[in-house]
Amino acid sequence: MIVEQAPAKINLALHVRARRDDGYHEIETLFAFLQDGDEVRLADGPPSFTVEGPFAGALAGEGDNLVTRAAYAYATAFAGPADGAFTLVKRLPVASGIGGGSADAAAALRALARRDGILLDDPRLFAIAEGLGSDVPACLLGRSALGRGRGEQLEPVDGLVGTPVLLVNPGVAVSTGPVFAAWDGRDRGAIGDGSLLGRAILGRNDLEAPARRIAPAIGDALTLLIDSDGTRLVRMSGSGATCFALYKRPEDRAAAARAIRAARPGWWCLESALA
Ligand code: C5P
Repeated sequence: MIVEQAPAKINLALHVRARRDDGYHEIETLFAFLQDGDEVRLADGPPSFTVEGPFAGALAGEGDNLVTRAAYAYATAFAGPADGAFTLVKRLPVASGIGGGSADAAAALRALARRDGILLDDPRLFAIAEGLGSDVPACLLGRSALGRGRGEQLEPVDGLVGTPVLLVNPGVAVSTGPVFAAWDGRDRGAIGDGSLLGRAILGRNDLEAPARRIAPAIGDALTLLIDSDGTRLVRMSGSGATCFALYKRPEDRAAAARAIRAARPGWWCLESALA
């Protein structure tokens, strides 16, 4: 059996620059990855898909998912049978701005490539990833990077490895399409130069305002994180609703997690670190 981690992604900054004619938006984003996330397991056998873990129920109702789509796209691209028994351990909330589905698809592609002896930097894998979703190439790369285009043009960026992170999700699922559609169309400028943290701090998430109109609880999550001690950066990730804070010390992260869990017992919190 092949086991692949599917780390959560966060957007340290996400600048929306323009609407495109193909229904997507031109963005500039700083992707970073966490040390925790979902897990994808691949065993020999005919095609099958099983999901387990705390958020398995959220996927059960969906007719298709990105793991099986990745397996079929891979089989088509490499002209082979779509064999393989997949198990997804779903630990990340769905539709939450931390790329869970994209990370799962990328992990499935990595598992298939390992099984077949295909190098993980094979451009064919990136082409399949791009067809599966805007964040899938970044998840396949799996390290912090500047993303351009619709997020698929990637330039690795170093920094912040090991930084303590707290993710907070107020329990509202938010679909990406409507949030982009509610962007006001104003280009507020590029991501600047400098260190990864410096560029992130001076950056923004242009999807925060439209996402907050759709899910006002995002404002509450941001306030709770801003009020915690020892933060280096507080922001919403992707199209929301998950918000994150980077902390100076693990103790600061732990104290914030304790306080937020006590104040909002129904919310999802994950204590992790940047990969
Ligand atoms: O690429 P993906 O399928 O993840 O995107 C979901 C939706 O989010 C798209 O259909 C589009 O409406 C929106 N999107 C966008 N611009 C991007 C990425 C996503 O408008 N750069």
